Amino acid sequence: MQEALTYDDILLVPKYSEILPGDADTSGRFSRRISLRLPIVSSPMDTVTEHQMAIAMALQGGLGIIHKNLSIEEQAEEVRLVKRFENGFVDNPMTVSPENSVDEAHRIHEEKGYKKIPVVDKNNKLVGLVTELDYLWPQDKDVKIAKIMIPAKRLTIVLNNVSLETANEVIRTKRLSVLCVVDKNGLLKSIVTRRDLEKNQSFPNANKDAKKHLLAGAAVGVGVDLLPRAFALSEAGADVIVIDTAHGHSKGVINAVKACKKEKRLRHIDIVAGNVATKTAVEDLIAAGADGVKIGIGPGSICTTRVVAGIGVPQASAIIEATKGKAKNKNVALIADGGIKYSGDITKALALGADCVMLGGLLAGAEESPGETEFVNGRMYKTYRGMGSLGAMNRGSKDRYGQASITDSGKFVPEGIEGRTIYRGPVEKILYQLIGGLRSGMGYLGARNIAELQKKAAFVKITAAGFTESHPHDITITKEAPNYSKN
Ligand code: IMP
Repeated sequence: MQEALTYDDILLVPKYSEILPGDADTSGRFSRRISLRLPIVSSPMDTVTEHQMAIAMALQGGLGIIHKNLSIEEQAEEVRLVKRFENGFVDNPMTVSPENSVDEAHRIHEEKGYKKIPVVDKNNKLVGLVTELDYLWPQDKDVKIAKIMIPAKRLTIVLNNVSLETANEVIRTKRLSVLCVVDKNGLLKSIVTRRDLEKNQSFPNANKDAKKHLLAGAAVGVGVDLLPRAFALSEAGADVIVIDTAHGHSKGVINAVKACKKEKRLRHIDIVAGNVATKTAVEDLIAAGADGVKIGIGPGSICTTRVVAGIGVPQASAIIEATKGKAKNKNVALIADGGIKYSGDITKALALGADCVMLGGLLAGAEESPGETEFVNGRMYKTYRGMGSLGAMNRGSKDRYGQASITDSGKFVPEGIEGRTIYRGPVEKILYQLIGGLRSGMGYLGARNIAELQKKAAFVKITAAGFTESHPHDITITKEAPNYSKN
């Protein structure tokens, strides 16, 4: 029987270096035609990637794959929101209702830090704006927002066909801190804030298409809606389609890749397929026409496939096997999907031969992941669940696990769990630390870029004692580090 290893079993040996972390070029690839300045992609999971996450990822030079637990139209709309994004407009901002009490505005301020909050009625029509001057020290916490808000008729408002330049000019000349953007019926569409304007955020690494729109990916399954969904996503502007299944080395997935590649309407976009863990699987998907292949059977933090089905390959070995399959066509990208716990695992995955990594758990705690934050014992958390968990399968992802024909949810055999993960703030901050760790690793190896990292990589296999030595030991951690927790 062959031995198989994962990230925790191995370490990279340092080498003579003339490269400083800041000099390293971290560019990777997600598929044949999609390159990434930041080799990190967010998973197509319903607690990880909708438009907010995809926008944040692309702005930093990565990519987000919109999950498919949505109707075709809803998913296409999520893609459109990414493609239409213009840096500076905050789409779907947090709002309160005139019927809410002041307490609600207070809560949003506490949890999210927003000071000025638009007030909308149940149809999302803008009816006013509430500011911290009105709610931070209320005499009566139960007083209704309607009583204290600035009514819409006293606000400066612009229509949603306005350019960002004009919106910024209005903010400047009228000395506003928030400008509400509405459509012709008065429905709130977005806001522009002075803070963003002052930050003058430019995103030099943003991942954009030829028309200067952010790149967006979206997932499909192999069910009957494969082609209608793929067409709708392509029309919405998706740059890559990911055939997202738990078992990519199967007739269904190979045929799905072939079917997509045959379609004229999909010829301009790349098709990525997965997941697999062997050389032949990668070869077969390449032969079917895949432009990228996702590697990972069972490494995910929410995954129970290995214990439920007894199937899987520890991730480091799976990547090594996959690189042998890639020899068939070097232009096809390998995506190391799942099991990344620390930034060092990203360095290892890329050094082993992956062209980029896909993250679920490390991004699920971000501000931009779908779902609300919740407080538990004084800490903030966000929900994170497997697409093969009961909750997610009930919402639609049962086909990922070959259980599309089961209609009674009591009969599902889940391969994932549902839980919560620590709230980690904006994606930008999370990625800063992750990429900082990768850069540091590249510095230790003297690798100028990922290709050099792969060439120079020499691994050692470590023992349980070595693993214990690697993590902080013989100490009680008293201050949280931004890039390390035991959780
Ligand atoms: P993580 O980054 O370790 O949390 O792993 C995320 C990856 O796990 C995803 O990109 C999927 O490939 C995979 N995955 C998502 N949901 C499930 C599940 O329910 N069971 C098994 N694997 C899953």
